[in-house]
Amino acid sequence: MVRVLVTGGAGYIGSHVVKALGERECEILVFDNLSTGHKEAVLYGELAEGDVGDENLLGRVLTDFKPDVVMHFAAFIEVEESVRNPVKYYENNFCNTVKLLKAMRAAGVDKFIFSSSAAVYGEPDEVPIGEGAPFNPVNPYGASKAFVERLLKELSDAGDFRYVSLRYFNAAGADPEGRIGQSYKRATHLITRALKVAKGEFEKLYIYGTDYPTPDGTCIRDYIHVDDLAKAHVLALDYLLSGGESRAFNCGYGRGYSVKEVIETAKKVTKVDFPVEEAARRPGDPAVLIADSSRIRGALSWEPEYDDLEFIIKTAWNWELNKRF
Ligand code: UFG
Repeated sequence: MVRVLVTGGAGYIGSHVVKALGERECEILVFDNLSTGHKEAVLYGELAEGDVGDENLLGRVLTDFKPDVVMHFAAFIEVEESVRNPVKYYENNFCNTVKLLKAMRAAGVDKFIFSSSAAVYGEPDEVPIGEGAPFNPVNPYGASKAFVERLLKELSDAGDFRYVSLRYFNAAGADPEGRIGQSYKRATHLITRALKVAKGEFEKLYIYGTDYPTPDGTCIRDYIHVDDLAKAHVLALDYLLSGGESRAFNCGYGRGYSVKEVIETAKKVTKVDFPVEEAARRPGDPAVLIADSSRIRGALSWEPEYDDLEFIIKTAWNWELNKRF
């Protein structure tokens, strides 16, 4: 059985990938410090509690478990927070990834799947964005991911190491069966925030910026259902196991929705006309991020199942109303 070490596997995207790996019958060890993750989110495999910054522990876990592949989700993800506190992002997202790669090398583990981000591109010159677009991150979060990607390429060029870097656009939605979903103490993502306003957890939803160069003035994003994203990881795993060379793939549907369109759909799904207020731009937000996903569709035969904003929001709403943690 294929053995996969999943850092951050108790988190939002990591836990959906663990579910997909479990369904593929992998042997899974989740390594997570539970700073934002939840034990209950780990539906398959074992959980080892620990921090990726803890080199000794990480070394022991890698040597004992001997994974075929490491999938690395443990990272901070809030663009705005990264602008306020860049060191936090470089330390965890970059320095701790260096420690992980060093420990993998020492333990003889040579295959890696990395959670990268559309944020590496910054404000793109062309949309949809292809993988060949230049890296020009406009916030420390994106820069921390871009630095890791550079290191991965250099490691791979040096030999005896292969990786797949998956550049996520906006992951959203929840397990359609309602077992897992997004559960952060601070909900900052648009869809989750909108649903929490609909539920009455927050008073109103703010639209951050209505003067962007887009048709309705609000930012446009490519929202991808988290299970379609999880499926991309399983395909990337099989690709590496069958000898595939190091590559980066965009993960998005190739179609964007504005903040106002998301709000409209959230109101339709929830049947709540929740209060919305226009506010100033949020620092670090590019106007439009839409993936050109032809590479992953071609090379990994990735076929999304849930390319439907209403369905994505329905699964998130179901989770929000019935969540267990
Ligand atoms: N937004 C609002 N109000 C809110 C929350 C968000 O107007 O209450 C807006 C944001 O300004 C942005 C859009 O909705 O224009 C989407 O914001 P999110 O916070 O949901 O997501 P981001 O696009 O900022 O970031 C997400 C992930 C990153 C990833 C990026 C790639 O958090 O990790 O998508 O597209 F890099």
